[in-house]
Amino acid sequence: MLLLFLTVLLVSEFGAGLRRHGHHGLLLPPPNVHNYPVPPDQWFTQKLDHSQPGDLRTWQQRYFTNDTFYRPGGPVFLMIGGEGTASPVWMVTGSWIEYAEEHGALCFQLEHRFYGKSHPTEDMSVKNLRYLSSEQALADLATFSAAMAEKHALPEGTKWVAFGGSYPGSLAAWYRLKYPHMVHAAVSSSAPLVAKTNFYEFLEVVSDAVKAESGDTCYNNIAAAFTELEKQLADKERWRPLGKLFRLCDPYAGSDLNTSSLVSSLADLFEGTVQYNRDNREFEGAKDANITVSTLCHLMSDGAGSPLDRLAAVNAALMAVRGDKCLDYTYKSEMDKMRQESFDSPDNTGMRQWIYQTCNEFGWYQTSDAESQPFGHRFPLAFSVQQCMDAYGTKFNQSFIDAAVAATNVRYGGRGIRVRRVVFINGSIDPWHAMGLTATRSRHVPVIYVNGTAHCANMYPSRDEDLPELKAARRRIGRLIARWLQEDDQ
Ligand SMILES: *[C@@H]1O[C@H](CO)[C@@H](O)[C@H](O)[C@H]1NC(C)=O
Ligand SMILES: *[C@@H]1O[C@H](CO)[C@@H](O)[C@H](O)[C@H]1NC(C)=O
Ligand SMILES: *[C@@H]1O[C@H](CO)[C@@H](O)[C@H](O)[C@H]1NC(C)=O
Ligand SMILES: *[C@@H]1O[C@H](CO)[C@@H](O)[C@H](O)[C@H]1NC(C)=O
Ligand SMILES: *[C@@H]1O[C@H](CO)[C@@H](O)[C@H](O)[C@H]1NC(C)=O
Ligand SMILES: *[C@@H]1O[C@H](CO)[C@@H](O)[C@H](O)[C@H]1NC(C)=O
Repeated sequence: MLLLFLTVLLVSEFGAGLRRHGHHGLLLPPPNVHNYPVPPDQWFTQKLDHSQPGDLRTWQQRYFTNDTFYRPGGPVFLMIGGEGTASPVWMVTGSWIEYAEEHGALCFQLEHRFYGKSHPTEDMSVKNLRYLSSEQALADLATFSAAMAEKHALPEGTKWVAFGGSYPGSLAAWYRLKYPHMVHAAVSSSAPLVAKTNFYEFLEVVSDAVKAESGDTCYNNIAAAFTELEKQLADKERWRPLGKLFRLCDPYAGSDLNTSSLVSSLADLFEGTVQYNRDNREFEGAKDANITVSTLCHLMSDGAGSPLDRLAAVNAALMAVRGDKCLDYTYKSEMDKMRQESFDSPDNTGMRQWIYQTCNEFGWYQTSDAESQPFGHRFPLAFSVQQCMDAYGTKFNQSFIDAAVAATNVRYGGRGIRVRRVVFINGSIDPWHAMGLTATRSRHVPVIYVNGTAHCANMYPSRDEDLPELKAARRRIGRLIARWLQEDDQ
């Protein structure tokens, strides 16, 4: 799935749920493997509907504080929560904490409404999901910031800096755009700024990354494997052996939806790996953190058997890391999870909420509609639209999504966003960069391009072995923050 931002309990995004809809990009949610002491949950009484001042209903929104580095008169750093459970591990680690120490900043993280433990409504019925939107989330940030300024008796003129990666990276920039009086500057990592229904470019960037890492052999073998897969899926005689080869939980018995679902989950093995290639995610407990594009390409290029057998080996390797016994690929299984309206269900991985946001605001469907990619053509846009309609009702058809996407771009400006003191960071092999800003427009809106890195790489804790480009990017972001904290105008 799209993803940015991409976040779920133990489930990596390969796990239950976040699969078909793509790598939405989430910063994966950390089982706290290293047992860092982390700050406790705190709760903020938040308005349900910011668009109705007269609606006084409230709910409890979760947040975290780290005040260890705060020097009175210092700035406030705000980490924006996204489409998954907010992790307290981010309160004690990550590059933003290093900047906080340097500047004596007070640090907060606010969980996004409807994700994690922040439940504005009793459940996630379609009726209740109408309170889930980026606009409501921005208003949550502003309301929260005003209340924290009072609670902590912050001096007038205290400067707030917003941080976010993936969808929260977009929110960081949009917060600066819509509430410039509340936030002085923003660091926006891997942020998609343009809403687009058909995000076929995602697979093109995945293809480029595969070629850049491992050359044409890998690309050609992937293409051969998917061509053969599509051929065999059309041949009833081959269904049973295919089921065995890919260790499907349920026998394959035709149907367009199951076909789309199966082929996209196999493409997803590569998509997810590229998105997070070599990110330092181990501290978050990502079990597949040491699987990289070159690991997969090694299997595709030098493995035994036909290209299809090698694809099966890639599937088996990722299943082994995830501890899955079989491949749960059916459309029904996907829909059962997406239709689960209870916050308490084990199937609540954030996917029902996130896909709703895509159907209602952003699109960003990672379809197989591009010509120049090796993953076949069996998950076209119509498949993603079908999921919107099956999960939330027939109202969410393509006309609806297209109109919603257009409205989002009018609201925030897309790539033409008018902001100052926002730094956008993109990584060359992060597929999301295709929806981001392409070039620095002025010194007030620098774009930092990090050659060779993936999704949100700059946000993770630094390591000695990080690429020199990545180290330089972190230093440059640090210098920008320092400079902007010296500026006084709005
Ligand atoms: C804030 O982060 C620092 C750096 O990891 C850590 O040492 C400190 O304990 C944290 N403070 C709180 C209140 O969590
Ligand atoms: C998908 O496959 C499963 C398992 O074979 C089957 O039960 C289900 O009916 C199929 N779904 C569709 C939409 O055909
Ligand atoms: C990745 O790490 C797991 C354990 O964390 C290990 O079993 C596996 O061999 C490693 N794979 C590679 C390709 O290094
Ligand atoms: C979507 O639904 C609307 C209203 O029900 C209808 O007018 C429109 O033609 C539909 N669009 C498509 C592409 O089916
Ligand atoms: C990232 O930034 C670089 C440098 O400005 C640019 O060449 C590249 O196209 C950008 N990628 C996107 C689409 O954001
Ligand atoms: C990115 O890095 C690769 C390998 O280090 C190099 O070949 C390529 O020219 C670099 N691209 C840019 C735009 O700097």
